Amino acid sequence: VRGDGADDLRSFLERLRRERPGDVVDVRREVSPRHETAAILARLEERFRSPVLVFHRVRGSLLPVVTNVCGTVARLALALGCRVADLAERYARACERPVPPVFTGEAPVQEIVRTGADVDLSFLPALVYHEHDAPNPWITAAIVAARDPDSGTVNLSYHRLMVDGKDRTSIYMEPGKHLDRIRLRHEAAGHEMPIAAFIGAHPAWSVGACFTGSPDVEEYAIAGGLVGEPVALARCVTQPSVPVPARAEIVLEGVVPPAERLEEGPFGEFTGHATGTMAAPVFRVTAITSRRDPLFQDVVSGSFEHLLLPSLGIERHALEVARKAVPGVAAARLLAPLTIAVSLRKRDDGEPWRVIEALLDSDVYTKHVVVVDEDVSAVDARQVWTAVALRVQADRGVRIYPGRRGTPLDPSADSADGRTAKMGIDATTPLRPARPLTRNSIPREVLESVDLRAILGEGLTPRA
Ligand SMILES: Cc1cc2nc3c(=O)[nH]c(=O)nc-3n(C[C@H](O)[C@H](O)[C@H](O)COP(=O)(O)O)c2cc1C
Repeated sequence: VRGDGADDLRSFLERLRRERPGDVVDVRREVSPRHETAAILARLEERFRSPVLVFHRVRGSLLPVVTNVCGTVARLALALGCRVADLAERYARACERPVPPVFTGEAPVQEIVRTGADVDLSFLPALVYHEHDAPNPWITAAIVAARDPDSGTVNLSYHRLMVDGKDRTSIYMEPGKHLDRIRLRHEAAGHEMPIAAFIGAHPAWSVGACFTGSPDVEEYAIAGGLVGEPVALARCVTQPSVPVPARAEIVLEGVVPPAERLEEGPFGEFTGHATGTMAAPVFRVTAITSRRDPLFQDVVSGSFEHLLLPSLGIERHALEVARKAVPGVAAARLLAPLTIAVSLRKRDDGEPWRVIEALLDSDVYTKHVVVVDEDVSAVDARQVWTAVALRVQADRGVRIYPGRRGTPLDPSADSADGRTAKMGIDATTPLRPARPLTRNSIPREVLESVDLRAILGEGLTPRA
């Protein structure tokens, strides 16, 4: 956090290069935009490496491609100025104390302005990730800003864009997401929806955009709360009702017309599986603005970054819903796609089911919920599955909820609208267990008497 109002993607990359040089890898040889950037990240992830990748020469475009910016929790913590262990608390604090954005006179993202016949998306890198993806160029790291016509609040969320011609893309909006709800209200009134998709974001803007919960919350203010100072905004040139960060890299301004549709997909999603094709709404681009030398930010679909980016927002919302049902909820963690673990200090044996049903009935993006006792760490998948193994009798501890609203992105859903069975697992120990439970423990005084320095040798620092 610089504290001078100039946080942006560039300042964050500079800071990484200075403070964690191993976290940025410059690829200077020419690479193909078709599968090769995705392949390089996939090979690194196989080796548990996850640096930011800067591809300086991507065939077919003059723009450098920056990918995997938010690919590790350590980088998110650096960007938000906290320890990894405090990320959830930092996010919760930003939601309690949002910092509203401010308009600024100077907008580097409008150094170059192209409108009308000069609008041409073909200068962007034509990235394609997976073998089964539609061959059109995909834009995955565009954060879409739109104003709610009723409340006036500005919504931010990520939406994949499939480029189709020089001034047109499809835009995928999951049913139920705020942007889709805003679109439906414009469509019902026969209006086009003004939007702006900005590319090139400080990580605080990225995780702020992934806030989920009340539609009255302005995500720019969450982004501001995350770094403790307002995000500087500029008004769009052709869509003046929509504000964008003045220090983004590229902005695509335009409208989503009420009736136009475009066949989009297939596309390999965060689930690791491809969606089919669908008739998606269209984004008509009315202006492209950018810096003089813009960076093109990207998220490799299905990479760890793609899972990590929305997790802080989903976990905060899950915790809010779970605590409203049962105040003794300690933590909520997104363990895998659509899978949330909740830890709980239980006062009666009905509480885990109240948490499970509250979450499965809510708009929290989840399908399976596991509730564990407070002595199990919800952030540790091994501990959670150990509790499922050793504290559950499946005929009592598992409940199935058929025919619920899920996500069309779940490849196991029965229909294209995402109808799904949901599942809750109560992996807590009954307050009065049938057989006495004795957890392994070593007497505290013996644990405390162990002198690791003496055992590991002087000068060796034991791992925490
Ligand atoms: C990289 C990335 C890509 C995403 N792509 C889409 C998308 O194409 N469509 C969509 O509806 N949501 C997408 N999302 C999820 C939304 O951004 C996320 O659910 C957001 O928080 C929506 O919140 P809202 O309903 O509060 O506006 C994506 C998220 C990330 C991190």
